[in-house]
Amino acid sequence: MHINQDDIVALIEAALDANYSDVRTVSNRIARSISNHDLECAKKIKSILRKKGVPLQSSGYMENLPVDSKSRAPLLEETQWPVTPLFLNQDSRNVFQTFISDVINIEELISHGLSGRLNLLLSGPPGTGKSLVAGHVAAQLNRPLYTVRLDSVISSLLGDTAKNLRQIFDFIPKKNGVLFLDEVDAVAKLRDDRHELGELKRVVNTLIQGLDSLDDQTVVVAATNHSGLLDPAIWRRFPYKINFSTPDLDMRQELWNHFLFVDNGDNSINHILAKISDGLSGADIESLAIAARRKSILAKTDLNIASTIAATINSTLGNTATPEGGEMSTANKKSIANVLHKEYGATQVDLAKILTTTRQTIASYLRE
Ligand SMILES: Nc1ncnc2c1ncn2[C@@H]1O[C@H](COP(=O)(O)OP(=O)(O)O)[C@@H](O)[C@H]1O
Ligand SMILES: [Mg+2]
Repeated sequence: MHINQDDIVALIEAALDANYSDVRTVSNRIARSISNHDLECAKKIKSILRKKGVPLQSSGYMENLPVDSKSRAPLLEETQWPVTPLFLNQDSRNVFQTFISDVINIEELISHGLSGRLNLLLSGPPGTGKSLVAGHVAAQLNRPLYTVRLDSVISSLLGDTAKNLRQIFDFIPKKNGVLFLDEVDAVAKLRDDRHELGELKRVVNTLIQGLDSLDDQTVVVAATNHSGLLDPAIWRRFPYKINFSTPDLDMRQELWNHFLFVDNGDNSINHILAKISDGLSGADIESLAIAARRKSILAKTDLNIASTIAATINSTLGNTATPEGGEMSTANKKSIANVLHKEYGATQVDLAKILTTTRQTIASYLRE
């Protein structure tokens, strides 16, 4: 274990001060520092941090988060660092790592006259890892992550929206945090007929002023499912951009390996799963894999690969099917064998393994 002694002191102090925000920050840091050596313990800490979130707040302690003056609802929330590893393709990983390195070395860059906004824009379909990237940015920088859901900040009362945005931008630099503007395209929704164009302009301007008001050190990550809807002036304020699409074959294989954990030696099953999940997101693959594992745990059986495959074939982006439990009908087995063989080039050996039957039976399925 490699826990920094200062962290232990800070943890004790924060605990006795009932400063739960610091308890969380330090605990997160400790979890991170030991995760290479003792992943289990790191996970335990993270899980406690997640589970204890609500009771801490209801115990009378509330961090001083900015709130909407009328509803008293918090305008942002402190989000936990993620436990899930991040799978990125080469281009995205390059931008991600460049961004982190530029943030860490900002002083040096500034001293050479190379200051720039530390703003990262993430765009792409739901479930492709945008929020996860925001979490990893904060974790890598060892800073708290403050998530703002712009669609909730943009209240029906637009006068308040500008005020709320200003409160958020005043708060973040004091915390040395990472500001995560989720659903940043929500401002674009104001372009509907319920609102005047002038109001929309005012909100966009407040957002831009807020971004411009931040110092060189403050990190902003924004995410949007519809980059086309984003105001060009906002778009321009994000020099770093990652454009997500649904994962490619290699990444799908990594996602299945991570979320399904089937050790089948040569990985042939996960390879087939990777092939048939083209067009699905990381979040889709995760939910298919978790559903399949849940079934097998509760039924006390091996993982039902055939039904996982059937569910995957029946899934579309953002809309996953649930793997069925129990023995699969012969008709379904035949149909899966034929689809996998003809469309995805699965061998008879693979099919025998997937459908837990003999090669002779598979041969007969394919003949029919
Ligand atoms: N590229 C990825 N690498 C690892 N996990 C992923 C990836 N994309 C999605 N996931 C899984 O799906 C979950 C939801 O992804 P999320 O980041 O919330 O997507 P988005 O914000 O783009 O809608 C993640 O927490 C993670 O478990
Ligand atoms: Mg998200």
